Amino acid sequence: MFTQSTVFVLLAAILSYSNPSFALNPVDPNAPAAYFATTTPTNATYVVAMNFVRNGDIYIHMHSSTSCSWFGVGIGDQMDGAGMMIAYKATNGTGVVTSVRRASGGRSEPVWLGDHDPEGPRYEAIFTDQYAPVANTAKKGGIQISHGLCRNCSSFGSMKLDYTSKQQPFIFAIGPDSKLESDELDAPLRRHEFYGHFTMDMTVSTSNASTTYGRVPAPNLPEANGAVADSLFATQGASEVLDGHEDSEWALPAHAALMCLAFVLVFPMGALLLEILQSVLWHGVAQIVGVLFVLVGFGLGVHLSHHYNRSRNFNSGHQVLGLIIFATVFIQLGLGVIHHVIYRRTKQSTIISKTHLFLGPLLILLALINGGLGFDLAQNHHDNIPYGIVVAVVAIIFLTARLWLLFKRRPSSYQPDRESLEAYKTFGPGYQDIQTPVSAGSAAHHFGFEMGTHNTAGRQLAPHRGDMNRPALAVKT
Ligand code: HEM
Ligand SMILES: *[C@@H]1O[C@H](CO)[C@@H](O)[C@H](O)[C@H]1NC(C)=O
Ligand SMILES: *[C@@H]1O[C@H](CO)[C@@H](O)[C@H](O)[C@H]1NC(C)=O
Ligand SMILES: *[C@@H]1O[C@H](CO)[C@@H](O)[C@H](O)[C@H]1NC(C)=O
Ligand SMILES: *[C@@H]1O[C@H](CO)[C@@H](O)[C@H](O)[C@H]1NC(C)=O
Ligand SMILES: *[C@@H]1O[C@H](CO)[C@@H](O)[C@H](O)[C@H]1NC(C)=O
Repeated sequence: MFTQSTVFVLLAAILSYSNPSFALNPVDPNAPAAYFATTTPTNATYVVAMNFVRNGDIYIHMHSSTSCSWFGVGIGDQMDGAGMMIAYKATNGTGVVTSVRRASGGRSEPVWLGDHDPEGPRYEAIFTDQYAPVANTAKKGGIQISHGLCRNCSSFGSMKLDYTSKQQPFIFAIGPDSKLESDELDAPLRRHEFYGHFTMDMTVSTSNASTTYGRVPAPNLPEANGAVADSLFATQGASEVLDGHEDSEWALPAHAALMCLAFVLVFPMGALLLEILQSVLWHGVAQIVGVLFVLVGFGLGVHLSHHYNRSRNFNSGHQVLGLIIFATVFIQLGLGVIHHVIYRRTKQSTIISKTHLFLGPLLILLALINGGLGFDLAQNHHDNIPYGIVVAVVAIIFLTARLWLLFKRRPSSYQPDRESLEAYKTFGPGYQDIQTPVSAGSAAHHFGFEMGTHNTAGRQLAPHRGDMNRPALAVKT
């Protein structure tokens, strides 16, 4: 019969065969270690226990509530340049992957260091530690555990470990409750939900040889009564949380909301207003509101872009298309205004109005596609489903309204010279005018002119039927 320990012995044998380092590192329950444990204001548990070895290795146990998309610790007192160990759930959702990273370039997210430097830091997960039987696994509703050895990890960041320090600074952070499951060491991270500092006493946690490694996880508090609880851990040889910050990425939802509102709602509504109210004024007001949304949304987008390595160079499809759309929105606004001014003077359709009418729908279409690219860039791929549904529903409503307005406002398409005159009696006194066969355009002109009850201006352009710019030209302010 296989008992748990038989399994461990077997596993250890297999692992030590494939990786000789394990054979050299028997568990030493008395290895010196320091423990830092805290519960964040968002009720997430975060614990890190480390045993430092003077050769640069770090034996590390770290865990957090499984709800956190990632959790990590860094050496030093600031994020910029700090060497870090960051862990998150594996693709299967039950494993935990840990990668060695460094935050380069201001305050953007830590990126994996790669494995091209043979002397660079290397993280090796340890599964065989009898003190951590569920090492490197995540339990739904419980905790996720990263447990392993980081080789050559003491000095790859901007701050080296000082083994004599009683207050060696560290930083830690947990990621927001968003879906992140990846086997890749360079999996993209979302901005932290909580971060802070702490210090550890290196003199109680440093070993002189690599033959001993830290006994982890951190001790349960006496209140746990010997049971292994997921939340009760004690700090030992370390400070409390220093300078903890709740953080949120408000700019991302704000950017998305403003851009989506502008392109899904405001701009299409503004286009319809021209038809419904026959008012350039309200059309202009709506589109200027839309442009203001886009302006603020753009500012937030640029601000966001600096947060992530993936967006810092402004070379993602979403950003490039977004910049083009942003510039074109202003061209479109300019065209609208110029056309309006010219039209008021000349009452003539110009190439400008045609461009304006062509560019508007194109711009909206491109922006709707760009929204989808945005969700992809932000790793919120699944948000594209509700987004797509909303866009489809709005598109159907918009197109229906547009078609309905088109038919309602197009008496010229009746082709009066081919229909029984009876049909026109309902139109009132003007019907007599069309008894003489005339061009559809001029008949429509008479209708509009003489019926009076309908918008007069709307009829004057009937000769342009089939011409996209009819509505824009039709209106008066
Ligand atoms: C003009 C039309 C644009 C639309 C419709 C749009 C829409 C969106 C949407 C829906 C998201 C996803 C938000 C989420 O997942 O909650 C997003 C993310 C983002 N957008 Fe835009 N956006 C536009 C333009 C821009 C521009 C011009 C920039 C910057 C130059 C930009 C930069 C970003 C960045 C950096 C993200 C986050 C990416 C990440 O988290 O990695 N966007 N956008
Ligand atoms: C955290 O947990 C405590 C006790 O379990 C509860 O009173 C508090 O409301 C929780 N806070 C949050 C933000 O969930
Ligand atoms: C899940 O993935 C991790 C990392 O790839 C692996 O170590 C672990 O064995 C996997 N667990 C299961 C149940 O497949
Ligand atoms: C650690 O770095 C030293 C030199 O600094 C190098 O000799 C050694 O091979 C490295 N170890 C690993 C595991 O990369
Ligand atoms: C490690 O060596 C240093 C001096 O090299 C000594 O001060 C320290 O006590 C030693 N630590 C342990 C745990 O043996
Ligand atoms: C950061 O992103 C750029 C692309 O924008 C990429 O070429 C580079 O390798 C990334 N840096 C790291 C350290 O991953």
